[in-house]
Amino acid sequence: QNSDSQVLIKMYSEAAKLYSHILLKTENGTPALKYLNGRDLDNGLIETFDLGYAPNNSNLLLQFFKDRKIDDSTLRKSGLFAENQEGELFDRFRDRVMVPITDEAGNIIAFSGRILNKSEGTAKYMNSPETPIFNKSKALFNLSNAKKAIRDNKSVILFEGFMDVISAYKAGVTNGVASMGTSLTDQQLYTLSRLTNQINVCYDGDDPGVEATYRALTQLNDDRFSYGVISVPNQKDPDEYIRSDGADKFKNLVENGVQTPMSFILNYFRRNYNLNNEHDQIEFLNRSLNEIVKLQSPVEIDMYVGKIADEMGVSKEAINKELDTLRRKMA
Ligand code: CTP
Ligand code: MN
Ligand code: MN
Ligand code: MN
Ligand code: MN
Repeated sequence: QNSDSQVLIKMYSEAAKLYSHILLKTENGTPALKYLNGRDLDNGLIETFDLGYAPNNSNLLLQFFKDRKIDDSTLRKSGLFAENQEGELFDRFRDRVMVPITDEAGNIIAFSGRILNKSEGTAKYMNSPETPIFNKSKALFNLSNAKKAIRDNKSVILFEGFMDVISAYKAGVTNGVASMGTSLTDQQLYTLSRLTNQINVCYDGDDPGVEATYRALTQLNDDRFSYGVISVPNQKDPDEYIRSDGADKFKNLVENGVQTPMSFILNYFRRNYNLNNEHDQIEFLNRSLNEIVKLQSPVEIDMYVGKIADEMGVSKEAINKELDTLRRKMA
């Protein structure tokens, strides 16, 4: 890393310390601390994840770094500031809970800031822009913390959000990372491939989360990996589920409830069809066979053929004939 990057990494580390101090040690931070405590995050967990608070002040961080003789061009490169119409800098993050994002070695390279209260027209999370040290398509939230657990567990759990990773960690599930809303990039997959070949997707249980899981499974056909799905019940996200149903139920889901991609996909199709109606039954059957035909393992194929045959009240022979027809079309 060049000296430019080193200066920026030092700035992010100092900014994180300042935000953390404000959250935990000052009156200014009280509302944010109450907010986090209200989400069941105790001070120990807040310190583990280096969470902080950026107060509602346009030049707190600006003055902090000017006092430390950081020059204007470095301030601009850092991404910690935005520019007004007059070209003057001001603090990018204001009145937000600050979540540091680290690189694989644990250096803080970016922030995401969460608003305390729902408000119209403001994004819930605001992220650092791309900088010489932050490339959003490479970063994975919590990777540096989770690395050892990923190796030990021989699997990584992929979550949607920061709070899902943090709550899971609190519940004792420490091999979680988040791609921060974006779909997984090749660079992120490459990083993960050096640690494990098992990716268990645990996205939100709401409609967008289920859709995103389906998309991820149909797009992630990277043969370096095996995939699993952990479906969170009752439309909840993992953080909400842990808080409502408890750590033990979540751990049980993670340890015993990993579905195969095919099992998830068949459930996903079932949701979208009215299986009391013959037209829908045939559609469901066709879509399912189009997925089953892609499987490699004859045992797996036979298993799902058996399930679908039972469910639809048709013979396995008929289904296998259909599959042969599909295979000939594909060849
Ligand atoms: N996200 C983002 N910018 C937004 C909304 C979401 O970067 N405006 C990313 C964040 O990493 C967020 C993730 O997408 O954690 C998942 O979004 P969502 O499920 O909507 O938020 P939660 O993680 O559930 O947020 P919270 O629990 O804090 O309400
Ligand atoms: Mn979501
Ligand atoms: Mn969520
Ligand atoms: Mn949500
Ligand atoms: Mn949430």
